[in-house]
Amino acid sequence: MATEQPETWHYGLIAQYWAEFNDDFRAHEIPYFQRFIEDRGQPALDVACGTGRLLIPYLRAGLDVDGCDVSPDMVALCREKAGREGLSPNLYVTPMHALDVPRRYRTIFVCGAFGLGSSRDQDLGALRRFHELLEPGGTLLLDIEVPWAEATLWKYWPKEERASLPSPEQPPGPRRLASDGAEYALWGGRLLAVDPLDQSVSFEKRAARWRDGAVEAEEVRRLDLRYYFPNELVLMVERAGFSDVVVHGDHVEAEPTNDDDFVVVVARK
Ligand SMILES: C[S@@+](CC[C@H](N)C(=O)[O-])C[C@H]1O[C@@H](n2cnc3c(N)ncnc32)[C@H](O)[C@@H]1O
Repeated sequence: MATEQPETWHYGLIAQYWAEFNDDFRAHEIPYFQRFIEDRGQPALDVACGTGRLLIPYLRAGLDVDGCDVSPDMVALCREKAGREGLSPNLYVTPMHALDVPRRYRTIFVCGAFGLGSSRDQDLGALRRFHELLEPGGTLLLDIEVPWAEATLWKYWPKEERASLPSPEQPPGPRRLASDGAEYALWGGRLLAVDPLDQSVSFEKRAARWRDGAVEAEEVRRLDLRYYFPNELVLMVERAGFSDVVVHGDHVEAEPTNDDDFVVVVARK
């Protein structure tokens, strides 16, 4: 399902939607990672920084944080948003499995991006890159959404349900007014496939922009996403050379519970 170049939907209109509307998304993640950067050390690297939802508040707080992302569109929008506040971070366009940057870091964190569009080998390669780029004793933080978090997806793991895929097209989501006067909507499109052996799902996502009531642009993009189980991810992180691996619940420094939709793996080089 995965391609050599990770396939995600964070380009074009979807990137613009992220830059415009997602700064307040899952706000509790921001102080969680920030505390680690402050305690465990800088410089830090925000892997898959997107349009800077975490990176820009950290720069604003005076922290030394670089960013990287596979999508040039997300990186360009991040640079533009940072620039508006007089900030000029080091930003790199690269898939995480090919990460090669000049600095070494005390903290590397990945929020909402591990397993997007990539192959299992690429994900293992990304963990090795993070290990390489950390200073000795440095900290890796890596979050994942657990595979059972989304009831609408998890129900497709048994073959009886999978047979009905692809799912029907979803109706357009609500339009939202952007700062430039255009309206944007992002909607679910379709669930194309679920492969439980590969632990992956494929979606088709739609985005549109309206100006003065008329459709100005419309895009359809595919996203392949691989799920990892928390214990599996711990083993992968250890295999990449990390030690002292602990798992936290949904961006709080406590053990996860069965009801957490996200977990964070925290490990030392
Ligand atoms: C859900 S967004 C999260 C962005 C940001 N971390 C945040 O929390 O706001 C996922 C981001 O991961 C990036 N991404 C997906 N696959 C990637 C990969 N293999 N290497 C680097 N970035 C990737 C996308 O371009 C997108 O910007």
